[in-house]
Amino acid sequence: MEDQLYDFACRLAEEAGQYIRSRMDDRTNMEQKTNGSDLVTVVDKASEALLMERIQASYPDHWILSEETDGEGNSYDKLRGKPGGYGWILDPIDGTTNFIHGVPHFAVSIGIVKDKEPVIGVIYSPLTGELFAARKGHGAYVNGQAIRVGEEAAVGQALLGTGFYAGDWLPDSDALPEVARMVGRCRNLRMTGAASLDMCWVAMGRLTGYWHRGLHPWDSAAGTVIVREAGGTVTDYEGNPYDMTQSTIVATNGRIHQELIQQLC
Ligand code: IPD
Ligand code: CA
Ligand code: CA
Repeated sequence: MEDQLYDFACRLAEEAGQYIRSRMDDRTNMEQKTNGSDLVTVVDKASEALLMERIQASYPDHWILSEETDGEGNSYDKLRGKPGGYGWILDPIDGTTNFIHGVPHFAVSIGIVKDKEPVIGVIYSPLTGELFAARKGHGAYVNGQAIRVGEEAAVGQALLGTGFYAGDWLPDSDALPEVARMVGRCRNLRMTGAASLDMCWVAMGRLTGYWHRGLHPWDSAAGTVIVREAGGTVTDYEGNPYDMTQSTIVATNGRIHQELIQQLC
């Protein structure tokens, strides 16, 4: 069953990505969500419709949690309220601001959970052609090649990533004290604007670690499987295993995990 789901999710992510590529000219056809920096385009919505239609047609008894349909209200409570069995957690375009500006760091993110446990993660970057995929117990891959987290053993050697959640783009952002604590302590910091791909970058060693407040399950579900299957660690800021209903996340190569948590908090 799960090998079929995995293949289906990979093909579906590529199909949605190809569709997004074909609509690059429509990328500034957008509207505001909660504030002027929280945006959705017609292509986000159309990508979501494509994903949901295909999943419902092939797996009518699976539930779906998806950003543009389920974005209002508390996403953690919505996930807690889902039944057991298989569920799909979708971000039709992760990195919408990059998409709007033509920055090639955005992706289709598809997470599959079984009894709320993330078991399959697929993330496709339409402009770079990188397809990241992992299945619990079977390793993590980019375009079919196995990937592993980086080797750095200390925060001082780490290239780290983070970002701002939608409601936190403010002069007194919660992210700023965290950034201030890490500046000068790690090798350097990147804020590239697509949580799903940032987690893939941890999984393949481009980043050593990533932290973020306020991610939603659709930002992190697929990436969580991919980082863990690449040998990394994913927890909340307290070090508890991450289950997508916590509001903080730390994803690293494992070796720097405790040191990063200590320095960050
Ligand atoms: C956003 C991106 C960004 C992260 C935000 C997310 P979206 O997702 O993943 O990197 O910092 O918190 O909301 O809105 O582009 O799907
Ligand atoms: Ca997102
Ligand atoms: Ca999105």
